[in-house]
Amino acid sequence: MRKLNIAIVGATGLVGSTFLKILKERKIKINNLYLYASEKSENKIINFKNKEYKVLRLSPENIIDKQIDYALFSAGEKVSKEYAQFFVKINATVIDNSSAFRMDDSVPLIVPEVNGKILTTENKIIANPNCSTIQCMQPLKVLNDLFKLKRVDYSTYQAVSGSGIKGISDLKLTRENKKPKFYPYPIVDNCLPHIGDFVDGNYTKEEVKMINETKKILGLKNLQASATCVRVPIINSHSVEIDMEFKKPVDLNKVYNALNMAEEVIVLDDVKHNVYPLASLATGNDEVFVGRIRLDKFDRKKLHMFTVADNIRKGAATNAVEILEYIENNLVTD
Ligand SMILES: NC(=O)c1ccc[n+]([C@@H]2O[C@H](COP(=O)([O-])OP(=O)(O)OC[C@H]3O[C@@H](n4cnc5c(N)ncnc54)[C@H](OP(=O)(O)O)[C@@H]3O)[C@@H](O)[C@H]2O)c1
Repeated sequence: MRKLNIAIVGATGLVGSTFLKILKERKIKINNLYLYASEKSENKIINFKNKEYKVLRLSPENIIDKQIDYALFSAGEKVSKEYAQFFVKINATVIDNSSAFRMDDSVPLIVPEVNGKILTTENKIIANPNCSTIQCMQPLKVLNDLFKLKRVDYSTYQAVSGSGIKGISDLKLTRENKKPKFYPYPIVDNCLPHIGDFVDGNYTKEEVKMINETKKILGLKNLQASATCVRVPIINSHSVEIDMEFKKPVDLNKVYNALNMAEEVIVLDDVKHNVYPLASLATGNDEVFVGRIRLDKFDRKKLHMFTVADNIRKGAATNAVEILEYIENNLVTD
């Protein structure tokens, strides 16, 4: 892979700092690195590979004179909408972690091992899916290939790190019996069935994202899909129970074979020995862990499965860096 000029927008945040970790772990060769955040963090020093970098305030004048190949965005929807085009203008490819462009028909929504093939060099803005959606895509894709998915119902158990630094600090505050500053109720000792604002039909924004993004990524416009998204008082890694209905009867042997063969999926399913996916196990890893795989008791076309993944890594930073790697390894000729 060639040496790259990379910008990180939101470099002081949870996802932004994990971008740096992952770029280092994957030995991405970097020529120039530009770290952007809000005015609050201007001139803060961040160390990367034994070199000190000053955080730049995100502003047009701090972008326009730079040569940047990729801009990795993780500073929220508003910032992406306002600033992605400035990076496109200087010919950078934007890989965006926010929801700003996910449902835009002209923007590909990518989990590389599932639908990386749709990427072309023309794509200057590429969207990274929602963290809970990402971890369900590869298991659903391989099972859809086998039995044709008709319906999916998600129930999530999402860690507070999914809300960024504010979520983690709210869990810490409420563990000390202090008032929450971010969630509407104390997250300690609670499960909050409320992630994002309430919108259509009393679904939340997070639930609508999971439903719509699943259809777009799998290319299944008519898929029946529903979701219940719940914030739980753990620091990191999201768990998602996936209940599926297929058009064909399910063969469990084929399910295990397909999931065992699937790239970036690890099956942990030996209930006799209490082996199943756990948040504490997924944290720090880049794979999606699946287990508790069961045929429905009443319908051979239905299957139940529990998945866990590190929401900051596979659910955000790792997937974005994998998009960059996919483009560099498959589309860039140089
Ligand atoms: N956490 C997850 O599991 C996850 C997963 C997938 C996607 N995402 C998405 O990634 C984004 C960031 O999430 P996070 O968890 O990393 O949040 P976070 O820890 O709160 O970090 C937010 C980052 O955005 C920067 N920022 C905020 N306002 C800005 C502005 N006006 N201009 C420039 N920079 C600004 C912050 O800089 P300052 O330090 O200067 O405030 C900080 O670097 C969100 O869109 C989120 O939906 C998060």
